[in-house]
Amino acid sequence: MSNAGRDGTSSRRDCIRTMAAAGGAAALASCAPNRRAASDAGDPETGNVEAIHFPEGYPPYPSAEATETAFAEHVSPGNVGVMKAFGTELHFGQREGARVQDAFTKKWYWDCHRNGTLYNLGHRNPDIIAAVKEALHQLEIGNLLLISGYKAKAAEKLIASTGGALTGVTYTASGAESTEVAIRAVRGITRRTKLVSIEASYHGHTCFALAAGDNPDNHERYLLDFDDFVFVPYNDLDAMTAAVDDETAAVLIESSPAQSGFPVPDSGYFQAVNDICRKNGAKLIIDEVQTGLGATGKFWFWQHHGIVPDIVTTAKGLGGGILANAAVLLAPEIKEWFFDTAIPHSSTFGGNELGCVATAKVCDLTMAPGFLEQVNALAEQFAEGLRGGPYRVNQHGLCMGILSEEMGKMEMTAKLFEAGIFTVPAWYTDGGVEFRPILTLTENEADEIIRIFRDTVG
Ligand SMILES: Cc1ncc(COP(=O)(O)O)c(C=O)c1O
Repeated sequence: MSNAGRDGTSSRRDCIRTMAAAGGAAALASCAPNRRAASDAGDPETGNVEAIHFPEGYPPYPSAEATETAFAEHVSPGNVGVMKAFGTELHFGQREGARVQDAFTKKWYWDCHRNGTLYNLGHRNPDIIAAVKEALHQLEIGNLLLISGYKAKAAEKLIASTGGALTGVTYTASGAESTEVAIRAVRGITRRTKLVSIEASYHGHTCFALAAGDNPDNHERYLLDFDDFVFVPYNDLDAMTAAVDDETAAVLIESSPAQSGFPVPDSGYFQAVNDICRKNGAKLIIDEVQTGLGATGKFWFWQHHGIVPDIVTTAKGLGGGILANAAVLLAPEIKEWFFDTAIPHSSTFGGNELGCVATAKVCDLTMAPGFLEQVNALAEQFAEGLRGGPYRVNQHGLCMGILSEEMGKMEMTAKLFEAGIFTVPAWYTDGGVEFRPILTLTENEADEIIRIFRDTVG
């Protein structure tokens, strides 16, 4: 994939640096007309994206090596190691729609990682940006104690997305914090501490969330191996029946565990789990951080499965990829108990007013007539296009796991990256990747991703 704007990009950047050194704002303004110079323009044939914004100091380090050294020193050497091991050392530069550009190599990649639901609506979605820009004239974070119409309005829309089945919203700042709130709520309401969750699932990096996720290294490292947090295999009703008893506060399920390659449960699995919970007086929590907000072709994954959970956790895409926001959705009975105290939960950034403007816009766009139909049409296009290859496709709309017996997960990830598709290995599989195309792809873009995938993997 070439980048039509590459030459224009660097000349505009040079222009800005030179002009800025020479004389400030007026000089910088004289660079502006170059923005739409021929060499900068997007190419409608290839879909290449126009270079749009290069303020001085972006990116903050002059090279990939300098960025990695500083990141490893000040933030996380582990992350640098992981990206090197995956063969996906991508440093986000320009981002637009379904693609991201490496800041240093200038190569464009199709984003099929999507960061869970974070970029469901694409990178730098113009409708989200417009809503947030408009709100910035008046709003900021807000005050966590005060009554806010912006929080209430976004909550109203989230409740509408459940068809009114869930009626309460508690805001948080992350998926992990949503997990904490959900577990705290079920412990309080049931007066029980036992939690049953799914092997190889992930719920975030706070204490309850790590304890409820199946990663023994973390349990050992942080002393989070709780006796009453137990794990059963996904889609195994015998194990679930054996594990859930009258001491169980809740069953917590990552709707389809991403790191296991988005397995597809047997028909009736979720209804049976729901029945097991009801029979034992346990609550059912569904973690929709990966699958919510339209990614599976309905607004929520659980809406495919004929159940209404007691609690739904969500995060990532609630801010439309532009701002942070996250939430826990509560069924009426849980809401009644959880809200019956002065401050059921408090989070400065959870439900921040700008974030809530973004959340309201995300709900409007996702519930707009035709949007989910479009997601389902894209899902069908991928199902067709990927059919017959030397791999198995687990598919829930645009949440897919592609599992190969011929190619290891690291090899597949690295080869796809080389070919221009960014994703990650499905960690708990031998050969498989998490494959989450962006929900706003055009048909041509989807065809191009399918073509690259098939040329690379078969
Ligand atoms: C299923 C699931 N739950 C929870 C989380 C944690 O979300 P956050 O990173 O916002 O804490 C993640 C993050 O990837 C996730 O995939």
